[in-house]
Amino acid sequence: MALPPGFLDELRSRTPLAALVGRRVKLVRSGRQWKGCCPFHEEKSPSFYVYDDGFHCFGCGAHGDAISFVMQTQGASFIEAVQQLAAEAGLEVPKPTPEAEAAERRRLALGEVLARAAEAYQRRLFLPEGKRALAYLRGRGLTEETIRRFGLGWSGEGRGMLIAELGRDGVTAEGLVEAGLMTRSEDGRPREFFFGRVMFPIRDRRGGVVSFGGRALGDAQPKYLNGPETGLFSKRRSLYGLDLAREAAQRGAAVVVVEGYMDVIALHQAGFSAAVAPLGTALTEDQLAALWRLSPAPILCFDGDAAGGRAAARAAELALPLLSPERTLRVAALPNGEDPDTLVRRHGAAGFQAVLDAARPLSDALFELLGEGTAPVTPEQRAGFRARLEAAAARIADRGLAGEYRRALLDRFFAARRRGNHPLGVAHQSSAPRPKPRPVASEDERARILAAILLRHIDLLRDVDEAFGSLELPPWLDRLRGAIHAYADRAGALDSRQLMNHLTEAGLAAEAARALAVVPVPLPACAAPEAMPAEAEAGWWHIYGLMYRGRLEDEVAAASRDFAERADAAAQRRLIALCAARDALRRGEQGELDA
Ligand code: UTP
Ligand code: MN
Repeated sequence: MALPPGFLDELRSRTPLAALVGRRVKLVRSGRQWKGCCPFHEEKSPSFYVYDDGFHCFGCGAHGDAISFVMQTQGASFIEAVQQLAAEAGLEVPKPTPEAEAAERRRLALGEVLARAAEAYQRRLFLPEGKRALAYLRGRGLTEETIRRFGLGWSGEGRGMLIAELGRDGVTAEGLVEAGLMTRSEDGRPREFFFGRVMFPIRDRRGGVVSFGGRALGDAQPKYLNGPETGLFSKRRSLYGLDLAREAAQRGAAVVVVEGYMDVIALHQAGFSAAVAPLGTALTEDQLAALWRLSPAPILCFDGDAAGGRAAARAAELALPLLSPERTLRVAALPNGEDPDTLVRRHGAAGFQAVLDAARPLSDALFELLGEGTAPVTPEQRAGFRARLEAAAARIADRGLAGEYRRALLDRFFAARRRGNHPLGVAHQSSAPRPKPRPVASEDERARILAAILLRHIDLLRDVDEAFGSLELPPWLDRLRGAIHAYADRAGALDSRQLMNHLTEAGLAAEAARALAVVPVPLPACAAPEAMPAEAEAGWWHIYGLMYRGRLEDEVAAASRDFAERADAAAQRRLIALCAARDALRRGEQGELDA
């Protein structure tokens, strides 16, 4: 049924959805929306929400608008539902215009052309001419099953493959232009758009192919080419992987937003099958809406570099006005220099699960993003930071939630000052200007700092015990270490103050003071009593890695095996700290010694 454009929007906006649904379901207000027990599955506590423009059940995933609600609850056909709602809204259902009918026919035809193109590309991947492309995908760790599930293909080497192949079935150059598979060159002649590329079909939420991305083999530029906007494909509205993610999210998989095609595919293969990616652009409102249909709190997981940080900040900005108690985001930080694809290849599914488990609520991430990675020191800087926090909270349209955000952000702002600490807590990953380098510490100095961190954060000992025990130490530090171990053997819960008492009693007060001295090298931030445990631990391993690079790598490997076996919070924390330390080393940082 081809209705003129705009009619259905008009019909939806004239139909008060809560009133319509309310005839079947008892609804109560919940912020700006309504909630009740889902009419599509048995439930006792309400997980069915009605918004201005649609409904969603977080229990069974039922989802739709006024028209589909009538269809689903009354068994009506699309046109019956439209007619019923139009009558109630006092609207007349227009006769389909010839243009609308033609447009609908064309849409169907476009979909058909794209589906055929996808088949042709995929077939070619498994022919001898696709050998290099197939080897490339295999080399990136993809199994044949994954390759087929995502319908990956090979475009062929030159321009002309599609028209030759699909032309036999009557597909015209005109049709290929409309489908975004050919473009007109300057002389007006159509030429094929993709050649010499590995092809990634982009599918809509129902799984229909709407466009393609193409990756160059090797280093040719641009690395990825996305199809142009067409009647079927809008980059801003599409999310790569959405069709597969919908199913997975209904089965309870975490909805994760990543940056690239390969990230989605690698995650899927590792068992994270509700991963999606925008198509090389910043997240849009349409994409957020699509994500919230799958999950009340999708996890943003952007690359651990400055660009990834900016992408997270932009997404948070965009989401603010749209947040509600049932629609939020979480933010997961990848180690610098990794993307999800490299991370699962290196650390396996457990490594990525650890990243997801460490995802922070949006309010936390926002605090750090708004701090822009630098510590406000002067009153002017602090006032500026505070104003940014308040402005962010004020942008949340949901009044109740805005108040909660304001309180949470300001609590943290003031708590940071009371601790006399960097208001951002853990040092931010971004490229904040680093203070000028200090002299590089000697091995003995490094060992001393490791002991200092432990004196201040003795609960770390459980994680670093063996490594600490294996250090070669000067005699005075060795005595201190012996006493630390003796204390830990006898104490139940480890406590830094108790430890200091114990050392004083053991006649080692001078040694302890020497370990904690700020000369000859000042102690790094991670040795401060108010450092977060995770910061202290990452700092400890970082300095250890500066002394014994190879041993650190062994610790990472062991921790990753350990985490795969036990998968508990402690193992995870240790793995994250070790990875952070290892990555800092790889970046060539001189440890926290210059912090
Ligand atoms: P990345 O450069 O992070 O690529 O771009 P990637 O996904 O890690 O690629 P691999 O692992 O080298 O294959 C992220 C996304 O940005 C878009 C693509 O959608 C890509 O997946 N992009 C990137 C482009 O559109 N064009 C480009 O030239 C590069
Ligand atoms: Mn990548």
